[in-house]
Amino acid sequence: MKLWGGRFKGDTDKLMEDFNSSISFDMRLFKYDVEGSIAHAKGLNKAGVLKDDETKLIVDGLNEILKETETEFIPDDEDVHTYVERLLTEKIGDVGKKLHTGRSRNDQVATDVRLYLRDVINEIESGIEILIDTLKRKADEYKNAIMPGYTHLQRAQPVTFGHHMMAYVEMFKRDLSRLNDMVKRVNIMPLGSGALAGTSYNIDRMYVAKLLGFDDITKNSLDAVSDRDFVIEFLSFSSILMMHLSRFCEEIVLWSSKEFDFIELDDRYSTGSSMMPQKKNPDAAELIRGKTGRVYGDLMTLLTVMKGLPLAYNKDMQEDKEALFDAIDTLKMSIAVFNGMVKTMKVKSDNMANAAKYGYMNATDFADYLVSKGIPFRKAHEITGKVVLYAIDKNCAIEELSIKDLKSFCDVIDVDVYKAIDLRNSIKNKKTIGSPKLFDEE
Ligand code: ARG
Repeated sequence: MKLWGGRFKGDTDKLMEDFNSSISFDMRLFKYDVEGSIAHAKGLNKAGVLKDDETKLIVDGLNEILKETETEFIPDDEDVHTYVERLLTEKIGDVGKKLHTGRSRNDQVATDVRLYLRDVINEIESGIEILIDTLKRKADEYKNAIMPGYTHLQRAQPVTFGHHMMAYVEMFKRDLSRLNDMVKRVNIMPLGSGALAGTSYNIDRMYVAKLLGFDDITKNSLDAVSDRDFVIEFLSFSSILMMHLSRFCEEIVLWSSKEFDFIELDDRYSTGSSMMPQKKNPDAAELIRGKTGRVYGDLMTLLTVMKGLPLAYNKDMQEDKEALFDAIDTLKMSIAVFNGMVKTMKVKSDNMANAAKYGYMNATDFADYLVSKGIPFRKAHEITGKVVLYAIDKNCAIEELSIKDLKSFCDVIDVDVYKAIDLRNSIKNKKTIGSPKLFDEE
């Protein structure tokens, strides 16, 4: 069915009809379209446009439709708004045709998407909270597990696996804060803006907004129907969150290689090779890393769709939904899989501790030791560099050099140096807020 046609003489080309139709994807908004319609009917009633009995017929009809309709089935209508209006009219007769008074699909679709996104935000919020909880548990379990910390992917200074996990907790907390901040811009009602210039019916928009749980109403009708900032904002948030997941996944891929051997993924989150029988691949991590590109693409889609649009509504904007829905589906799946993967992975803390022993990661502590004995840092840095070079040459660690050898580089060095450059002490000695820590286990 179509909601228009009066001014046309001829039929729409079949191909054009398919091209124009959005029902194959906007059926996802069904529930929200019905809820928005119920509130709109009540608003029309309060404005004196619909009589009480008409309003009751419409509201009851819509409630029944909500209960009975199978949304898996894709009907032949142009879009979900058309479909809901047709179902209503079939159910209650001509009164149903009054529902669209003072409303356009332009303010309607903007309202539906906001209602939908509001629910999605709640779901994603709990997904991230679960993830943070998983990471905190892992961090706590391995709070004293020493591992190499890296810069430039070169062993740099010792940290703990707990500290490493908590770094991601910080990222996901920022994601949560972005998500929560967004709600105040998403939860605003465009309904009542009409096609672009409002409506001459005296609808109490604040009353309708309250019925739908919106915090506020939009203030400019042109902006209201042509604004998709809130979708772009959600896609930006999604891109950043995916980037965080992807960075972690990159580490998972590295860590699960024989070269690192820091973790082993559970069988539930790995797959094999069709040809090489020995393979156990970190596909879950790779897929999340790959799907990050897809979500960036969704963001790019919408930024590009919007960049040249004159006010107000343009049909280009129908393209917002598939990009948004794709990002939402990808995000939800990625968060859930990631959570399971991290929760079940086996951490090989002995291998990490072992890796931390090599790579001269206590060189900075050695230099700091010299500073504690009165040597200026720049000088201490140079002496330490020479010590490291010497140790590399002897193919041993700094702590494996004899006190006599060490003293030959600088006579302030004493046997207490060994304590100062011990990896555990290196972490224990860190004093600034935000540094890695070791926790007493006694
Ligand atoms: N399916 C359209 C969309 O998703 C609904 C709005 C259509 N408005 C119109 N005037 N054709 O954007």
